[in-house]
Amino acid sequence: MQFTVAIDGPAAAGKGTIARALAKRFGFGVLDTGLLYRAVGARVLAGEEAVAAARALRPDDLEGDLRNNAVAEAASRVAVIPEVRAALVDFQRAFARREGGAVLDGRDIGTVICPEAEVKLYVTASPEVRARRRWKELGGEYEAVLAQVLARDKRDRERATAPMKPAPDAHVLDTSDMSITEAVAEAVRLVRARL
Ligand code: CDP
Repeated sequence: MQFTVAIDGPAAAGKGTIARALAKRFGFGVLDTGLLYRAVGARVLAGEEAVAAARALRPDDLEGDLRNNAVAEAASRVAVIPEVRAALVDFQRAFARREGGAVLDGRDIGTVICPEAEVKLYVTASPEVRARRRWKELGGEYEAVLAQVLARDKRDRERATAPMKPAPDAHVLDTSDMSITEAVAEAVRLVRARL
């Protein structure tokens, strides 16, 4: 069976948590596509050129410490480069059509990578709620985390290639006033309705 769930949305909206919960519930594979861009960003911070880094990406690159603000920032800078995005397309599409079903989360899954996905979610929340979640996860200064989230969203939304936006047929899930349990339950309901 091939079945793709595409989850997009801004930084720290809860995409990853929902993606992992759906994968577990339905036995699908899960791919956090942000990790691909983070891994390219990390290689650039280490001195490599972005396009070459994207073309040379290896599974090992996804294992490092990629969940910090410096890498997130570097990821969103390399993500505006069309050749970087192009280098990552085939891997994501192959994963999406894997046997047994797949959940992918990112910014352009429902719009560019898998426009034919069976279920599309656009998970969002207010910037303050998202910044608070990221701040609880990583620590640091709340105001700085908020500023970084806002700057990254703006760059992701305004870039020319594959900008972050809901696909016309995406279900928008605003999790500002939802617990994670409620958000997952709603996502499960939407997937079940299409299976
Ligand atoms: O976890 P969080 O939502 O903060 O970020 P992420 O999903 O790990 O993505 C990091 C950065 O990679 C984003 O800010 C985007 O610039 C970029 N990205 C992208 O352009 N396209 C994707 N499909 C996934 C991530």
